[in-house]
Amino acid sequence: MEIKVEVGSPMQAPRDLVALGIFEEDGVPGALGQLVVSGDFKGKPEETLLLYPQAEGGPKRVLLIGLGKVDEVKPDALRRAGAIAVRRAQSLQTSAFSFSLPRYQALNAPALAQGLAEGIVLGDYRYLRFRTALSDEQKFEVTSATIHTSAENESAVREGVTTGQVVAAGVLTARELVNTPGADKTPPVFANDAVRVGAEHGFSVTVLDDTELEAQGFGGIMAVGKGSYGRPRFIIMEHGHAEEGKPTVCFVGKGITFDSGGLSLKPADAMETMKNDMGGGAAVIGAMQVVADLNLPIHVVGLVASAENMPSGRSFRPGDILTTLSGKTIEVLNTDAEGRIVLSDALFYAQRYNPAAVIELSTLTGAVIIALGTQTIGLMATDQSLADKVLAAGETSSERCWQLPLWQEYFDMIKSEYADMKNIGGRPAGSITAGAFLANFTNYPFVHLDIAGAAYADKPARVYNSAGGTGAGVRLLVQFLLDNYA
Ligand code: BES
Ligand code: ZN
Ligand code: ZN
Repeated sequence: MEIKVEVGSPMQAPRDLVALGIFEEDGVPGALGQLVVSGDFKGKPEETLLLYPQAEGGPKRVLLIGLGKVDEVKPDALRRAGAIAVRRAQSLQTSAFSFSLPRYQALNAPALAQGLAEGIVLGDYRYLRFRTALSDEQKFEVTSATIHTSAENESAVREGVTTGQVVAAGVLTARELVNTPGADKTPPVFANDAVRVGAEHGFSVTVLDDTELEAQGFGGIMAVGKGSYGRPRFIIMEHGHAEEGKPTVCFVGKGITFDSGGLSLKPADAMETMKNDMGGGAAVIGAMQVVADLNLPIHVVGLVASAENMPSGRSFRPGDILTTLSGKTIEVLNTDAEGRIVLSDALFYAQRYNPAAVIELSTLTGAVIIALGTQTIGLMATDQSLADKVLAAGETSSERCWQLPLWQEYFDMIKSEYADMKNIGGRPAGSITAGAFLANFTNYPFVHLDIAGAAYADKPARVYNSAGGTGAGVRLLVQFLLDNYA
């Protein structure tokens, strides 16, 4: 999809489809207003109305899209409008469409244009790889979108559109990885995907295979992967270099390519979507892609701990005690609480970079869905100033996070009789005891993001998401870097 920026109104040419974003205060502008019975279109968020103006030399179709109130407008309103426009272009089978606001000056900030471009690219995405019979609509490709603006806002809009396209491409990389079935992304394959993305976008990728992991003492990752034929991998991605006076930021992701629960086997309905259990790792890979494409002036390291959690005669067992890379021991009471085990090695590994900040993302607990639902990310932190920055980036990117406490009592809940800690703390505060477990392996400002709800949607609640992987976390991580280091 090509996104162009043009100065001037889209209404003076015979276009197939012009999408007009309408604010509630404004109503339907000019001559178009006469085509609508007063009050039928209010400009509420996501409201739409398709018009056929029949004016000489003008567009064939105009799609009104509500943006809500002008003084409340956020990038997400435009992200949603962009997705609605591109979806309608798909269903109408018009390969090109224009998008405009009647008040040009309102599309003034790079952030709004960025949201719009993101919405267009994200809304256009469908996962069709395994469909052999495509409908006409599914076959149809929208190839171009033109965003109209005023001369004075042109450079701001161009800047935002460029960023938005790059960010959305990173989100799509993450979605594509999540949507890939478990059989097609065992850890070695998943690691190769990271290598490919690195080669395409220009960041370095090193993969430690199971032999190296064993030799170096990655006891957590190796234990979780023991039951699977697809051997574990540790993926190390790097943009820029460590330099005196230049901070290093680490992103860490859970990369369980399929989570059956292992010997503590999940019930069938809980297992259905467990190919998404590498959603955190996918977000890290997608974010690295964006960081490299934007060539951000900072040293960023991405670490993904990847294993497949399967039951077999070789699997790790409840009751096993593992020695992790850190030397700390874990009593395994439930092999389905495997994410925190692989992450213990990755989080300890991150200590070697002496990072200014580490943000870790994982589809860690079902409990976070019970607590916060499917759109909100659970945030836990050892450093409040870092937490505040991530919370702020969540508001801006509309990947909203809600903080849960990491108080001493939660650390107490995972004390073990026989080892340094146990891997479950019972049902109460299930997301927090998981977060506390992770914090045991950090010695730097640390934020844990539980994306178990946000990473995947069978029936997406947001128009710019498609069924399946959402790419959750990519926009948030990039926003965090843009806010604090760009
Ligand atoms: N991958 C799951 C968490 C999950 C659940 C992600 C639903 C996405 C949707 C994780 O490994 C897991 O199984 N956690 C257990 C922990 C429990 C055994 C303490 C859970 O949440 O039930
Ligand atoms: Zn599990
Ligand atoms: Zn899991």
